[in-house]
Amino acid sequence: MQAISIVGAGYVGLSTAVCFASHGYRVIASTHDKEKAERINSKRAPFYEPRLDEMLRESVESKMLRAIDARDEAVLKTDVTFITVGTPATLQGKADLRYVVRACEEVGRALKKKKAYHIVVLKSTVPPGTTRDVVKPILERTADLSAGPDFGLCMNPEFLRQGSAIEDTLHPNRVVIGEYDERSGKKLKEMLDNFYEHRARTLRMNLESAEMVKYASNAFLATKISYANEIANICEQVSAVDVSHVMAGVGLDARINPEFLNAGAGFGGSCLPKDVKAMRAFAAVHGYETPLLGAVVAVNDAQAQHVAELVLEKLGTPSGKKVALLGLAFKPNTDDIREAPSLKIAKALLEAEVLVSAYDPVVKKISLAGFEALECANSIAACLSDAHCCVVVTEWEQFKTLTPDDFIELMAQPVVVDARRIYDPQQFLQRLEFSAVGLGDGSDS
Ligand code: UDX
Repeated sequence: MQAISIVGAGYVGLSTAVCFASHGYRVIASTHDKEKAERINSKRAPFYEPRLDEMLRESVESKMLRAIDARDEAVLKTDVTFITVGTPATLQGKADLRYVVRACEEVGRALKKKKAYHIVVLKSTVPPGTTRDVVKPILERTADLSAGPDFGLCMNPEFLRQGSAIEDTLHPNRVVIGEYDERSGKKLKEMLDNFYEHRARTLRMNLESAEMVKYASNAFLATKISYANEIANICEQVSAVDVSHVMAGVGLDARINPEFLNAGAGFGGSCLPKDVKAMRAFAAVHGYETPLLGAVVAVNDAQAQHVAELVLEKLGTPSGKKVALLGLAFKPNTDDIREAPSLKIAKALLEAEVLVSAYDPVVKKISLAGFEALECANSIAACLSDAHCCVVVTEWEQFKTLTPDDFIELMAQPVVVDARRIYDPQQFLQRLEFSAVGLGDGSDS
């Protein structure tokens, strides 16, 4: 069994590391974040992700996974290195490649000391051309070797979702291998076929196309969500139309499919907003304007504001009133609040002098500037208590089981805005004041 090194221990790196380790591969996770390395080695996951704790414990206890700071040892003691460092957005929205550059320099210096054939696989999301024009020259210069004859080079985009990172890593719906040369691609495919037990559909292509698959996929997912939100906003204008019924009908068309058609508070997280921006910035450099993606972003930016407006409408005079905000994470089963719609909604409400109390099962505080007035309640009951309106922003399972009685009992006035469409409108409309994204104001919806 080949040994694997992973450079970077974020969502992608650590999920990949524990999944390989659980399948009998020796894995070295290399991170310059010493505290993170210590946490990993002491079996404490650095972030919340379902199943990660147990997988990490098993991997470290069985000695199949260890985390180190050094890159040299990681490369020298393994056969394949996956680079999974972050590519955050610059102020102009471009992908910031500084961590990729640094990782490549370090991996290249280690490669220089290595005799055996080694494959370097870039997993970080990067603009088309990066692996060939940035990664390859850095590796070749620092290693004093040539990609192809001396070492292998591939680009293997990652499609895992936060909240189901382990499941997605173990059972991906497709695997894309971008290859610099035939030998690199063949060797990586053999290794991944073995790992996935030949069950994953795998596509081999050149480096640039593989890089583009990732951006194009996220752009399409973002487009579907903004499309659903725009249709939802039209539905709200029409008595008795419900977007969740409409999208159920639309999604049954096999050409469309039902995934990512849930209207709500807009998309957030560390990928969709960043990758759509990076794709637009990349296109702009090449003189193309991206009108479709521009509209996708505009609809998304407006959606959180729209939810805040639904709440403010319910409050009448907002100043001094309390709003219970259910959910802070950008989606359920994660503690990540990057680009979370909850923050945009909370900000708009705080600016209207509303007292905002938020409850999230895993996000327990917000330490960002501008959110000092946001109260984080320690239970759903404390959050709802004496509130004048409740808005559901993240569809955590815990919120789905709340009944109209729970709201009626605890709130100063039972008013609910369902921005994630988790409640049955008929049941709620009969008992309390209720509105929801994409729900027309008719009562027979
Ligand atoms: C995304 C891609 O799905 C994944 O393939 C890629 O590797 C990384 O980016 P992630 O950011 O973890 O994954 O979450 P995702 O499930 O895509 O959700 C992103 C955002 O879209 C969330 O805020 C979610 O609430 C929102 N969303 C999703 C909707 O509003 N409606 C939907 O129907 C689906």
